[in-house]
Amino acid sequence: MRKLLMLPGPTNVPDRVLEAMRKPMINHRGPEFHKLHENIVENLKYVFQTKNDVYALTCSGTGGVECAIFNVIDPGDKVIMPIGGVFSERMAEEVKSVGGSVVEIPIAWGKAVKVEQVEEALNKNEDAKAVALVYNETSTGVTTRDLRKIGDLTYRRGVLLIVDAISILGGDELKVDDWHIDICVSGSQKCLACPPGLALISVSERAWKVMEKRKTRQSFYFDLLACKRFYEERKETPFTPAVSLYYALDEALRMLREEGLEKRIERHRACASALYKAFEALGLSLLADPEARSNTVIAINYPEGVDDAKFRGILRDEYGIHIAGGMGKLRGKIFRIGSMGTVTKDDVLVTVESIALTLNKLGLKASVEDAVRAAKEAFM
Ligand SMILES: Cc1ncc(COP(=O)(O)O)c(C=O)c1O
Repeated sequence: MRKLLMLPGPTNVPDRVLEAMRKPMINHRGPEFHKLHENIVENLKYVFQTKNDVYALTCSGTGGVECAIFNVIDPGDKVIMPIGGVFSERMAEEVKSVGGSVVEIPIAWGKAVKVEQVEEALNKNEDAKAVALVYNETSTGVTTRDLRKIGDLTYRRGVLLIVDAISILGGDELKVDDWHIDICVSGSQKCLACPPGLALISVSERAWKVMEKRKTRQSFYFDLLACKRFYEERKETPFTPAVSLYYALDEALRMLREEGLEKRIERHRACASALYKAFEALGLSLLADPEARSNTVIAINYPEGVDDAKFRGILRDEYGIHIAGGMGKLRGKIFRIGSMGTVTKDDVLVTVESIALTLNKLGLKASVEDAVRAAKEAFM
């Protein structure tokens, strides 16, 4: 049976990318690596829409977020953080772990923070050093559509903006320079359709200035100033990088460039829109507010009486479709679909059909035809 990952990461990886990882090992302190590294950095700048410095770190996404926080937040620093899901909670834990003081903007799960709320928090906390937020909250399927406005605001106020864009970079609009994002973090295993294991991070001039003034260092492994020095001096990384994953990322970014960022974002939008339409046709309720719905992670409330393990088990074992359950307080209450990376119209249609069939198997009256028709119409 064909295995189709419709997870919010890791996603299906194209054969070209898998093949790239079979290349023989090279010296990470030699000319072949320097060329590979330069290609990756140039293509990442395209995806991040930035002229800022960018790095591929050998770690998962959490390591990238930790790197962002540990390089600019010192004990006692105030950080304004909208918190409305598992990943923003985790980010707040990381700020606290370096002694930072979190000024929380509580957000109901399923809603997105508004620029006015950030402005109010900044007015009350004029000494804040940074605003840190999750652009696409993977646990709730919510995208912070006000990010551009928040970026304008933090830029004007001289406050750093740190953004976790792990489950959205390459799948929806994200303009690091235009939106004044100082540190932006992403991961290899989501919309870029690469295997897990690399975190990607962009760093602005303002963020460098903050780092250069610091007297202490919170992390030896995640030292961005060391990354900068090694890249500028010799196109290398401070420590041994995951060379095979660099090959994979290089190929995944080549494929992204061949498709073009705009087209790729449009494909993600079309697939998400079809999924939302199909679930509405099935009479299911969606977790996220309509204006905050993510184009990469679709979160759906379980209808009364549907058991999470049974539902996802049938989908996996009988249809080969792998989707995610809820996280944190939403465990057992929602299911989540990752519509990312290589996702196509066919992937969406087979997912919709299989979900409708599974709901029927579990005793619900779900019209498979209506759901598939709604999805097809959305693509037209
Ligand atoms: C928004 C967000 N932040 C952070 C992470 C953590 O990334 P990782 O599991 O690669 O460490 C994830 C993973 O799903 C995520 O979606």
